[in-house]
Amino acid sequence: MNNNNPIGLFDSGIGGTSIWKAIYQLLPGENTIYLADSSNAPYGKKSKEEIIALSKKNTELLLEMGCKIIVVACNTATTNAIKELRAKYDVPFIGIEPAIKPAANNSKTQTIGILATKGTINSALFSKTVEMYQNTKIIEQIGHGLVELIENGDIDSPETDQLLTAYITPMIEANIDYLVLGCSHYPYLIPKIKKILPEHIQIIDSGEAVARQTQNILKEKIGFNTATSSTHVFYTNGNPKVLSDILEHKFSVTEKYF
Ligand code: DGL
Repeated sequence: MNNNNPIGLFDSGIGGTSIWKAIYQLLPGENTIYLADSSNAPYGKKSKEEIIALSKKNTELLLEMGCKIIVVACNTATTNAIKELRAKYDVPFIGIEPAIKPAANNSKTQTIGILATKGTINSALFSKTVEMYQNTKIIEQIGHGLVELIENGDIDSPETDQLLTAYITPMIEANIDYLVLGCSHYPYLIPKIKKILPEHIQIIDSGEAVARQTQNILKEKIGFNTATSSTHVFYTNGNPKVLSDILEHKFSVTEKYF
């Protein structure tokens, strides 16, 4: 695989742009292609088989476009499908999983909260990770309805505040000192979450860790783009305006059927 080829990313929609932004910040010289599979969002409500099929479809499109590495910018797709993707395709995959480890290792109250989709929380991979932290009380909460609001461009609606308050208040009462955001859509809710959380509770998401891991794999296995400029292509099969808004209109967005 040519080191000047793009990094491919996919998500069930616009949320994975939070991961794209972390990668762009760390590796601005890399070419990227992002697929927002918004017409199939939310993945979090789908069966494992459906999530695997959608992840394969996205991967194949990115491979047809010559991607040298695939970043699964979606916790739900990673926790349900990355094993199958790695078994089928001969390209390095970077996945994203809820950052339980740093939260559990640093928690002083030995109590942490996790907000993620139903698909992630019910996955075998997630349960296996949780089992590794027997000494930490892990409060799991499914973020019902949040991805739909973000995908509809309704982040600032009162409903978002109501749902977040309902999901987070019991965690505060249980004395968490870390809140793990286990869905790549949720970093866009951080300003709202901060208004609900007392200051001593830290929010953790996986964006920077995924970017560092991508950098490491490129360094070890594939190599970096050597061209003097880079291009960034965004495809969506949903509403281009919502994707464009989340990118603050800095990059052009193309509608595509996939
Ligand atoms: N952004 C995704 C994640 O990280 C999935 C959201 C969804 O489609 O349910 O889990």
